[in-house]
Amino acid sequence: MSIVSVNLLENSYDIHISSGNLPRLGELCSPLGCSSRVALITNPIVNGYYGDAVRTSLQQAGCHVTTIEIPDGEEHKNLSTLSMVYDQLIEAGLDRKSSIVALGGGVVGDLAGFAAATYLRGIPFVQIPTTLLAQVDSSVGGKTAVDHPRGKNLIGAFYQPKLVLIDAETLTTLPLREFRAGMAEVIKYGVALDPVFFEYLEANAERIVAMDRECLTTVIRRCCELKAQVVELDEKEAGLRAVLNYGHTLGHAFETLCGYREMVHGEAVAIGMTLASRISATLELCSRQDAERIEALLHRFGLSTTIPDADRQQLIHAIATDKKSRGGTINFIANQGIGHFTVIPRTPDELLTLCGL
Ligand SMILES: NC(=O)c1ccc[n+]([C@@H]2O[C@H](COP(=O)([O-])OP(=O)(O)OC[C@H]3O[C@@H](n4cnc5c(N)ncnc54)[C@H](O)[C@@H]3O)[C@@H](O)[C@H]2O)c1
Repeated sequence: MSIVSVNLLENSYDIHISSGNLPRLGELCSPLGCSSRVALITNPIVNGYYGDAVRTSLQQAGCHVTTIEIPDGEEHKNLSTLSMVYDQLIEAGLDRKSSIVALGGGVVGDLAGFAAATYLRGIPFVQIPTTLLAQVDSSVGGKTAVDHPRGKNLIGAFYQPKLVLIDAETLTTLPLREFRAGMAEVIKYGVALDPVFFEYLEANAERIVAMDRECLTTVIRRCCELKAQVVELDEKEAGLRAVLNYGHTLGHAFETLCGYREMVHGEAVAIGMTLASRISATLELCSRQDAERIEALLHRFGLSTTIPDADRQQLIHAIATDKKSRGGTINFIANQGIGHFTVIPRTPDELLTLCGL
């Protein structure tokens, strides 16, 4: 079992990573005071695969468990689902000593985390992420939120979990498309923050695709370490944490224009990273060969780097309305070589010109 610590003074916590560790949940929760009443928030798909293992482990540790299922899909990460969750938390009699366990991907984790942040002004919560994206990104760092009809993640809070338990074994049931989407975020860490990790991904791509457990846990652990380092320096996203948006600015614009159903988030990030590396090459922040290596690695994980057709004016509008735009200028994250980043302030129009669009 690998343990990555996130050091945030009184909000510190550990991330436990291994393969087959779900049955250890109860014993890990007990010392954290999560041992009385627990609401397990999940969705029907993940509950079907892993709900029993989690419930059994919690019950063996003496917890009384109430399961709350939310419907599957981003379209349910909203205030009406949250309201239903509050109803069930009250109905089940959860008090301030009770806790919430989130079992699922980023949708479940974000919503359950926000419920934990706000119910009775905040009760302890535990993340058990079951998608690759959630294991390497959304479950670590304490960003919780629901969507509003006017935009994604508009209603939320910074609220750290007490524990993150990652079982790489859960990835075996994940649809291939979701696994690949998670790999886009994994590659992002290598390109923006760690040249050695990028080389590790190049050297082990086939083993990772084949779900080699040792490789998977190594990959997840390194991503969690990198994310923890960034979050420790910038918990509330005042500056540095923006590096985690590498590939996201242009990716989001395509995601918006192509429709969220057409393209899953990680596929959009792969497009965004391809364009970010081309911009970096044009500005001679990296070589053309570096940009080609980044695209080649994305391909090896089944991610397309073909830029979808989109209207230039609509793209400019989508980039400008992104919340990271300040007075018409974007603090764009570019890669310096491979494994380092730099911030370049540019208008949306300049960014598109730089990547040849
Ligand atoms: N809080 C953050 O810092 C942060 C960061 C990045 C993304 N996010 C959020 O994360 C969400 C996306 O998360 P996601 O990509 O995990 O999507 P998701 O939660 O919708 O999960 C994707 C699909 O996989 C299914 N699934 C989950 N685990 C499974 C398993 N082990 N086996 C089989 N099926 C499984 C889910 O039911 C769902 O159908 C978005 O809402 C995004 O805003 C949050």
